[in-house]
Amino acid sequence: MFDATSTDYLEDPYRVFRAARDSCPVARTGTGEFVVTGREQITRMLRDPAVFTSRYNLDGMHEFAPEARAILADSLFFRVAMFNVDPPEHAKFRAFFSQFFAPRRLREIEAPIRDSARRLVAGFAAAGAGDLLARYAYPLPMGVIADLIGLPEADRPMIKEWNNAWLGLQVVPLPPEQQVGCARAVRAYEAYVSGLLAKCRVAPGDDLLSAFAAAADEGVCTDDDAVVALRVMIAAGHETTTNLIGNALHQLLREPRRWRALVADPGLAEAAVEEALRFDPSVQAAPRTATADVELGGVRIPAGARVHAMFAATGRDPAVASDPEEFRLDRTGPPRHLGFGYGIHFCVGAQLARLESRIALQVLAEALPDLRLRPGFTPAYVPGGYVFRGLTELPTVWST
Ligand code: HEM
Repeated sequence: MFDATSTDYLEDPYRVFRAARDSCPVARTGTGEFVVTGREQITRMLRDPAVFTSRYNLDGMHEFAPEARAILADSLFFRVAMFNVDPPEHAKFRAFFSQFFAPRRLREIEAPIRDSARRLVAGFAAAGAGDLLARYAYPLPMGVIADLIGLPEADRPMIKEWNNAWLGLQVVPLPPEQQVGCARAVRAYEAYVSGLLAKCRVAPGDDLLSAFAAAADEGVCTDDDAVVALRVMIAAGHETTTNLIGNALHQLLREPRRWRALVADPGLAEAAVEEALRFDPSVQAAPRTATADVELGGVRIPAGARVHAMFAATGRDPAVASDPEEFRLDRTGPPRHLGFGYGIHFCVGAQLARLESRIALQVLAEALPDLRLRPGFTPAYVPGGYVFRGLTELPTVWST
């Protein structure tokens, strides 16, 4: 059932989750990995990082060809940052990162994010039609995280390519020659970020790059730690949010009465974002590796096995939401989804992602009230392993 590369799974993983959740909430796949779809089992494993380690989370989900592995071994690919470090070191990274997402910082950037969203819409509104992923859901969060980090504007397209190469090595089974190309891109990416850190030392700014350079100078971390952490931050800070905005818009526009409700009351954007995180989250899962033989949900997991916590499977659990297969804007009570994970690795950028997504929906509802999906549109999804879920495009039309 759990073949993340199959068309059936890509189209509708929720069918698989439903079947698994009820009959085998901890399931062994054909490749010897384990997939956990039960909420109770997921929270149990994520509360125990000593047994379910994150250490190998950024080492790639698939075997590398020897040529690619040799290039990566000579890079920072396998090094720990925050995503892939366990306690007690995790707390140090986490505290350092968290300061950049404090409520005060987010309040400061709210108006600039809204301005960016309005500028983007103004740039394409006259066209009357367009792919909202490419024109809006991608450039908005990419711009926000790139500004926060301090990435030069002109370099962003190149950074995106390097980022895709790194992510591709993480989640997609690539042919050997492509692995080698991506591995070389990873090394070029690292050299580039090191160069940026060096520049910040000469001319520091009010950004994350300069903060990392200062932290490295003060011995809080090394330059290599900073490069790896910044690479994680760039990836985690945009792709996830792009896809969440895309998935939310898709659900809102599939059923025009939902879009009309948002237009009538842009305050519903908050509910729409939470509902997308529950119903069709952009980050579907997080992997862990068992450090010892362990039993979970009555299933024996051997040491060394990879175990995927399928957050996306829990959102449609009838115990989590009534009427779970419906995307609704009128749910009450605190959200119970695991769209941002659970436990010590709970998404550090969750409030930023919520803010960006809410603003993205509100600005669009205000500017394009009769936005519609392009007639005949059939959704297709980018292969993202168990982890990512995002549309390939979101073609829409509106009157000008
Ligand atoms: C809709 C957007 C987003 C979603 C759905 C999302 C989801 C997640 C999830 C599920 C985790 C847990 C991973 C695990 O347990 O291994 C996580 C962790 C993380 N996220 Fe996000 N994320 C989003 C946006 C962001 C943004 C905007 C940033 C940064 C600017 C960010 C940075 C991080 C980092 C650094 C971690 C690791 C935290 C740790 O290990 O302590 N994320 N995210």
